[in-house]
Amino acid sequence: MSVLVIGGAGYVGSVVVERLAKTGRKTVVLDNLSTGHREAVEPHVTFVEGDAANADLLEHLMREFRVQSVMHFCALSLVPESVERPLAYYDNNVRSGIGLLAAMKRCEVGMFIFSSSAAVFGEPAENPIADDAPSRPSSPYGHTKAMFEQILRDCSHAEKIRSVSLRYFNAAGATDKYGEDHSPESHLIPIVLDVAMGRREAVGVFGRDYPTPDGTCIRDYIHVSDLADAHVRALEALEKGGETTAYNLGIGHGFSVFDVIRAAEEIACRKIPMIDRPRRPGDPACLVASSERIREHLHWHPQVVDLRRIIDSAWKWKQAHPNGYAQKSKEHGESPDIAVS
Ligand code: UFG
Repeated sequence: MSVLVIGGAGYVGSVVVERLAKTGRKTVVLDNLSTGHREAVEPHVTFVEGDAANADLLEHLMREFRVQSVMHFCALSLVPESVERPLAYYDNNVRSGIGLLAAMKRCEVGMFIFSSSAAVFGEPAENPIADDAPSRPSSPYGHTKAMFEQILRDCSHAEKIRSVSLRYFNAAGATDKYGEDHSPESHLIPIVLDVAMGRREAVGVFGRDYPTPDGTCIRDYIHVSDLADAHVRALEALEKGGETTAYNLGIGHGFSVFDVIRAAEEIACRKIPMIDRPRRPGDPACLVASSERIREHLHWHPQVVDLRRIIDSAWKWKQAHPNGYAQKSKEHGESPDIAVS
């Protein structure tokens, strides 16, 4: 019996695979490496290079590895890009996902963990955002995640696929081995750290006229290890017969863009230059999670709730990997266990 992790070579996926390996579960990673990295997959885990939209491949893997549960990380996930290219987002995040569920049904795989997002809430009426707050996405990206959550609720009984949707707030930080390497990078913490390393000149601050105490946006940064812990707990709950549900995942405390920059300055012991930029389309002023439901149901409690510790882990990873994963992959010529064109 094994867990199929789709998108397991990406940022959050790689850390979840690392955690799954520690639980002793047989894990198989499927990733097309469009944004993921081969070196981000635990060396002893079976890695298959291929596309999540390839139904034949999915069926083959589910049968070959006697897959019992699926974790689904692969998605397009940039809010501004989703406004520009909505069809690509609906195609990738919804249509491919339906194909995956259909393959699961054919193979009688009945447990599914879904990477959802705070974006399902859009601009929330109040913070912290409760698990059952109304879903009112304000971007095509948010709509794709909300739609897929609905599809999962509908599939629960009718298609016999039980699922947990985990709504990440702002995933951040790194483990000793695995960290954040996007190309191009758009997320605040890695950009701020690039500036600290002298790889960029300044960080653009996207709006300082928001209705927040210092005028910049507030986000709930959650350490990627705490996200990984939530995935394993969610899987265990399904394995014990748990029903379909959704959980918000954040530490319950928000930090502004200026808070992040100041904390990074302390950690890196250097000044981080900033430039004022216009607001970025689709950015809500404040997103902070109430994660009451997962705390209560699965006894999940985030272990890293100090912003400086979160940023420090990312800083250490960046210093150890100044070129991200790219340099290493070229040097080592890593290859998949199974490659599918
Ligand atoms: N920001 C800047 N300058 C930058 C980058 C970001 O000021 O160079 C600001 C953003 O405007 C935002 C905050 O920093 O206010 C955090 O931005 P990120 O891009 O790091 O993260 P987001 O909150 O935009 O996005 C995250 C996830 C998305 C998810 C979204 C939910 O990465 O996948 O939360 O709203 F959709």
